[in-house]
Amino acid sequence: MNKKDCFAHLIKAPPKEPFKKYGSGRAPMNIALIKYWGKRDPDLNLPITSSLSLSVNLYTTTQIELVPSSQKDSASLELNHLCVPESSAFYQRLIQFLEYVRPPDHQFHISTINDMPTAAGLASSASGFAALVLALDDLFSWHLPKQTLSILARLGSGSACRSIFPGFVRWEKGVRDDGLDSFAVPLTETWPSLCMAFVPISFDQKPISSSRAMQQTVATSPLYRAWPAVVDTHLLSAETAIQQKDFTTLGSIAEQNALAMHASMLTSQSPILYWLPKTIEVLHRVWKTRKDGLEVYVTMDAGPNVKLLFLEKDRTALFEIFPEAHMLT
Ligand code: PMV
Repeated sequence: MNKKDCFAHLIKAPPKEPFKKYGSGRAPMNIALIKYWGKRDPDLNLPITSSLSLSVNLYTTTQIELVPSSQKDSASLELNHLCVPESSAFYQRLIQFLEYVRPPDHQFHISTINDMPTAAGLASSASGFAALVLALDDLFSWHLPKQTLSILARLGSGSACRSIFPGFVRWEKGVRDDGLDSFAVPLTETWPSLCMAFVPISFDQKPISSSRAMQQTVATSPLYRAWPAVVDTHLLSAETAIQQKDFTTLGSIAEQNALAMHASMLTSQSPILYWLPKTIEVLHRVWKTRKDGLEVYVTMDAGPNVKLLFLEKDRTALFEIFPEAHMLT
């Protein structure tokens, strides 16, 4: 099954006129505690392993408008009120995705507002595709179950399937070739005193997309062979730690998992390193802070920025050591 067949299978009947004029959707950004790194099917964004994330308090809000082709001859896209050029990778990616659902003789106008910088390792493609799918569900009155919306969001960007839900979310890797069993499931546990903050390092465009970096890691890194088993163990420990509110275990597993992901890409051919000198300075500051008795852990995605994990009781003390940090939860 390819992407087109997947859309056809999930949406069943093509949308019928009259369409609503507007649809809107809002989705949270999510940060993986146990990372998704490596695809078993790059077209359908099917992962090699399951993953586990926490949805945070930053959102993408998307409004989508359907306009008859007689009034508009191509799609248009605005990001944070600025027109996105047709030649940009972001425009191409979104418009390609929308082609699977575009009714004949109509064009889309999309306006999307991001609370966070785009393509800076702050996983905005995740909330972006999740918000887009929710906006389409509203526009076409599909009323699809969350599980189906999660699969559709995954077809846009893998980690987007987790942004359909708040709180702790597990993305089941699934085993089927068509990916119909690869979607996100929210965990029932909540943990209000668990905090996540963001240490900005750089908002420059990534040197290599996460998709390409994953493919290269899977194909060439000798360390990647160990990754699937490492993730299975980490998932089990992290979920138990969440159930037991065991912060020491959750923090150390999340940190180790992120470092293992970066180690696997660093040992790929040619090496991939998203970190900047400032990233390493922050890492050392975290480890010193922990040694001094304040429990804080890090996680990092495909970018130079750092996210801190800590408990609410340590928030004031932590912001004295990391004054440049911003709360995410
Ligand atoms: O969904 P993508 O293709 O942007 O990949 C996301 C990969 C990481 O952010 C590094 C890890 C994750 O699980 O979110």
